[in-house]
Amino acid sequence: MPLGFDASAADPSDTASRNGDAHLCDLISDIDFSKLVALKPRPIETQRSLDERTLSDLVSPGISPLPPSRHEIGENFSMNWFRSASNTPRSLLDPNPAMIDAWEQLRRSLVYFRDKPIGTIAANDPVEESLNYNQVFVRDFVPSALAFIMNGEPEIAKNFLMKTLRLQAWEKRIDCFTLGEGVMPASFKVLHDPSRTDTMIADFGESAIGRVAPVDSGFWWIILLRAYVKATGDHNLSDDPDCQRGIRLILTLCLSEGFDTFPTLLCADGCCMIDRRMGIYGYPIEIQALFFMALRCAKFLLKPEAGGKEFIERIDKRLHALRYHLRSYFWLDFQQLNNIYRYKTEEYSHTAVNKFNVIPDSIPDWVFDFMPMKGGYFIGNVSPARMDFRWFTIGNCVAILSSLTTPEQATAIMDLIEERWDDLIGEMPLKVTYPALEGHEWKIVTGCDPKNTRWSYHNGGSWPVLLWLLTAACIKTGRPQIARRAIEIAEARLSKDGWPEYYDGKTGRYIGKQARKLQTWSIAGYLVAKMMLEDPSHLGMVSLEEDKKTKPYLTRSNSWTC
Ligand code: GLC
Repeated sequence: MPLGFDASAADPSDTASRNGDAHLCDLISDIDFSKLVALKPRPIETQRSLDERTLSDLVSPGISPLPPSRHEIGENFSMNWFRSASNTPRSLLDPNPAMIDAWEQLRRSLVYFRDKPIGTIAANDPVEESLNYNQVFVRDFVPSALAFIMNGEPEIAKNFLMKTLRLQAWEKRIDCFTLGEGVMPASFKVLHDPSRTDTMIADFGESAIGRVAPVDSGFWWIILLRAYVKATGDHNLSDDPDCQRGIRLILTLCLSEGFDTFPTLLCADGCCMIDRRMGIYGYPIEIQALFFMALRCAKFLLKPEAGGKEFIERIDKRLHALRYHLRSYFWLDFQQLNNIYRYKTEEYSHTAVNKFNVIPDSIPDWVFDFMPMKGGYFIGNVSPARMDFRWFTIGNCVAILSSLTTPEQATAIMDLIEERWDDLIGEMPLKVTYPALEGHEWKIVTGCDPKNTRWSYHNGGSWPVLLWLLTAACIKTGRPQIARRAIEIAEARLSKDGWPEYYDGKTGRYIGKQARKLQTWSIAGYLVAKMMLEDPSHLGMVSLEEDKKTKPYLTRSNSWTC
C-alpha cells in the first residue's frame, strides 16, 4: 500500500481506516469528554508550576483536542482528525510523562499575532540570554507544525504559511544591497504593544550572525505547504494566487541560469540549519536534498493554468539533472571509496573518470575506518578538487524522504546508521555531522568558533530535533525498529534534562555547553517521531515516492551525451 496520507484515506472502505474506526469506538468509551473541553489550544501567558496543574491539564497534552468545527477547516479534515484521534489516545491509556510534558511545553511556546497562533518560539529558556531564540524560526517551526497537524490542529500551520508569505513580500536589504524577491525569512518576531495592534519584525539574514540569508527557509516553506495540503485536503490555500506567486518567486531564485556547470545550488557557508561557519559553503548536501524535495513538492502544488506550466517544465529538467548528479557524485560506499582512492588526477576531456580532479591524498583517514562494508551515504559536499566526506544527518534523511536516493541507497544509509550506531546515535540521538573538526582544522574551517568546538553544537553535536527525520526515514525504508531504539534512548533523558537544544561529547552524553533549555524543536521533534511511529500513515505528509515517470537513469560514462 502506498504510504500516502490524504483525506481519502479515511474512506470507510479502506481497511486501515476501518480498523481505526473500531479502535476509535473502543477509545471513545474510555475518554471522559468533559475533560477535553479544556484542551483547546490556548495562549499561555501565565506559566504555572507543575504543582499547580490540574489532572485534566496533565491528561490534555497527550490527547487530541476537540475536533475543529467543519466550517473552520472543511469536512475532509474532520475525518482526518478522527483518524488521528483513533491513534492518539494510546498515550491517554498509557500516559507517558515525556509526551505529556512535551505537549504542555509545545503549547507554551505558541506565538500569537493579533490573537491568532502563528508559530512557536525557538526556545523558552527562562535562564539563558534569549538573543534571537525568542523568535519564530521557519525551519524550527516545521516539526511544531507537523505535530499540530497530526494532532488535528492544522490552523496554526495555515496561519504561519500565510504570515510568512506576507513577509516574503517585504523589501529585503543588507546595507545598500537588495536581496532576491523570493527570499523567505530565517525568523520573525511579534512585537506586542498594549497601546497598538501587534507588529512584526523579520530577519532575512540582515541581522543574523554572519549575515547569511537562509537558503533553506523557502524550501521548508514549500515542503510544509505540501504537507498541510496533503493532510487536510485544503487546496484552497495553495491554489490561492498569492501562494502560487510565492512558490514561483522561490523557484525563480533557485532555477535561474548563470555560470553554473552543476545542477546543484551554490551556497554561502551557514545558509541552513548549520547557520554559522562550518565549511559547508559550496554545494552542501542539506541544501541540495531540500532543494530536490522542494522542487518535487512545488511540482505537486503549482497550477499549470495559473502561470505554473513553464516552471513545471523547468522543474522537470532540473530534477533530472540534480538526481543524476547527486546519486552519482555525492554517493559514497565502500566500492566508491575504493574507486576514489585509486583515482588518477589531471584527467582532461569528457572521458575523465575523476571529473572534479579530486586528489586521493585529500581523503581523510577517518573515512577508511568509518566506511562499513555494508552501507553508504551522501557525503557533505562536492566541488572542484574538494569532497567533504563528513556525514550530515538532515541531508541524508531528506534524501530518503524525497526519493532522491535509489531504494538501494536508502537501505544502505540505514545499514550505515546501524553499523555506526555508537558514532551517530550513541547516548543521545542524533549527530548533526560526523566527525567533529579538531585542532588546526577547526581553527581554519570554523574561524576558531568557540561555540563550535569539537563534538559540540554544529561540530559533531547531538540534536534531538533530528529524531523526527530519522523516524520518518526509518519508516519509509521499513526499518521502524531503528527509530524505536533511538527514541527510547532520547525519551529516558529529554524531558528530565529540560528539552535541551543539543548535547555535547563524542557519544552525546553531556547537555550542550551553550544549549538552550526548552528548545521547541527538540520537543516537537520528539512528538512527531512518537506520533509517526504510532501511526505511520503520517509519513505521507513528508515523504514522496520515486517518480516513475522520470527519464531512465544515466550511467557515469554516458552522462555527457544527454
Ligand atoms: C541555532 C541553529 C539554527 C536554529 C536556531 C534557532 O542557531 O543553528 O538551525 O534555527 O538556533 O533554534
